[in-house]
Amino acid sequence: MKAKIVYVCQECGAQAPKWLGRCADCGAWNSLVEERPVPVGAGAGAAAGAAAERYALAATSGPRLYAEIDTVVAERLSTGIGEFDRVLGGGVVPGSLVLIGGEPGIGKSTLLLQAAAHFAHAIGPVLYSSGEESEHQIKSRGQRLGVAAAPLYLLAETCLERILEEIARLRPRFVIVDSVQTVFSLKFQSAPGSVGQVREAATQLLFAAKGQNIPTFLVGHVTKDGSLAGPKVLEHIVDTVLYFEGEKHHSHRVVRAVKNRFGAISELGVFEMTGQGLRAVPNPSQLFLAERPANAPGSAVLCCVEGSRPLLVEVQALVSTSSYGNARRMASGLDQNRLSLLLAVLEKRAGLNLMAEDVFVNVAGGMSIEEPAADLAVVAAVASSVRNRPIKPGTAVFGEVGLAGEVRGTTQASLRVKEAGQLGFTRVVMPEANIVPGEAPDGCELVGVRSVTEALDQMMEW
Ligand code: TYD
Ligand code: MG
Repeated sequence: MKAKIVYVCQECGAQAPKWLGRCADCGAWNSLVEERPVPVGAGAGAAAGAAAERYALAATSGPRLYAEIDTVVAERLSTGIGEFDRVLGGGVVPGSLVLIGGEPGIGKSTLLLQAAAHFAHAIGPVLYSSGEESEHQIKSRGQRLGVAAAPLYLLAETCLERILEEIARLRPRFVIVDSVQTVFSLKFQSAPGSVGQVREAATQLLFAAKGQNIPTFLVGHVTKDGSLAGPKVLEHIVDTVLYFEGEKHHSHRVVRAVKNRFGAISELGVFEMTGQGLRAVPNPSQLFLAERPANAPGSAVLCCVEGSRPLLVEVQALVSTSSYGNARRMASGLDQNRLSLLLAVLEKRAGLNLMAEDVFVNVAGGMSIEEPAADLAVVAAVASSVRNRPIKPGTAVFGEVGLAGEVRGTTQASLRVKEAGQLGFTRVVMPEANIVPGEAPDGCELVGVRSVTEALDQMMEW
């Protein structure tokens, strides 16, 4: 019997019986790739059976009463790197599958090797399987990181079945598969990195992780447009998705949890790349504010909250007369549309004339901020640049700005205020609605404002 061929979209995983130039599901062009599934019975069915067997959770029988189920407090295993534990929600959960993505060269392998070394030392054997580097390359990196003798096993392998075999044989306490895109299963004929292969690899490793209670970390590559390469499907399979952010040209790296079944999302871990690998930065606000120019117009300090962590960052704006017909608006680290909206509010409600001006706004240090509490800092930085007046020294700011020019309350205000106080800021300009009497830290004045004009008056001399 002729094997049936299907064409699978590498972007979304949709299948089509014949090749199409454009995926009918997600609309991506030229994304369909030929795949030959293994005939049912011989492979797929049996494999599914075996998989279910391996997957301990699937073996539980029938529904159970909620009240009768014991609460299990999952112990957390420390990676030995405080910031890494933090993004994971307090350490590694046994049996969890974690995907860690990021651009090439940003430090994924470095971080995982450091964690692996600690694990091997403190907890038990670790298997580090790499399809990208040889054992020697990993070893030389390890020497740079000062990895001492420990039961850390390196495996340069790309065949999924071989990796699973070694996991079953070694029974490690921790598994790392460096780049899930290099792994291929013998059951599929498509190339490594295709949707079918990556999904199969992740699913089989999931069964292994859950069945044998081994925490497993997968490294995932990121495509040019910044999404985890090819398979969105991966994000659904794994328990936790971590993302390396930040620029390669800066020494610090930010790891963010974008999905976490065992902790808060948006949780941040901040690291610094040094000659001896990644080092945790316990007080990132200091790092982000380190190079802030004193008394420069166009610079505002924002108290933002990422996950459960308050963070002070500098928002910079530069407003200069546009020499061409249409003014440019550029935002880096912020949403472009949000910037346009805030500029419109400034024009209409605060009487600033920005029509013929180029506006550039940047979050210093390569951070990206999504929360609306950043609005007031953006508005302040832009106004400060337009008027060429610095914001009063020692002032930090946060608050959401509405279309009527009103300043709205935000979440976790007390957390933000506390962080500003700890870093020695003497004034916080914030939404009136968030002021709680008696909450001001020592030596720090809280200034509640209701509107953008009021906020600008409080922050700048005219
Ligand atoms: P790497 O972990 O190989 O990146 P990824 O696995 O995400 O592709 O990171 C490599 C970069 O980090 C490389 O450019 C060199 C740098 N580096 C250091 O600066 N110090 C170190 O101790 C190590 C191991 C790497
Ligand atoms: Mg790598």
